[in-house]
Amino acid sequence: MKQSKIIIFVFAAVMSAVLFNSCYVSKSIADKSGAQLWAEHCNRCHNAPGPGEFSNTNWDIVAMHMQVRANIGTDEINKIVDFMKAANN
Ligand code: HEC
Repeated sequence: MKQSKIIIFVFAAVMSAVLFNSCYVSKSIADKSGAQLWAEHCNRCHNAPGPGEFSNTNWDIVAMHMQVRANIGTDEINKIVDFMKAANN
């Protein structure tokens, strides 16, 4: 009986930590610029390619590929692509 209460308490604590953390992350995404998101995400697995390395059409394709590969949210990837295209002239 006592042990099951401890397990429930630990479970509740972990779940609130997870929930709080996910809310915090999505809020901070809204505050971040495309350039920031690009620097954070696109350096995670390889060196981040610069805007001039691909044409605007190819950025759409690369973004779709990396969104699936890295499980990046739609809002985030759209901000990154907007930044790549704006810097790509
Ligand atoms: C989860 C790890 C991961 C993250 C994060 C990631 N990439 Fe990649 N990327 C890869 C891997 C792995 C490859 C090699 C191709 C493959 O296996 O999909 C790759 C290949 C590429 C290529 C080569 C061309 C292509 O489409 O295959 C480009 C360009 C690229 N990534 C750009 C980006 C950009 C821009 C971001 C940020 C939005 C990003 N990557 C974030 C893992 C990642």
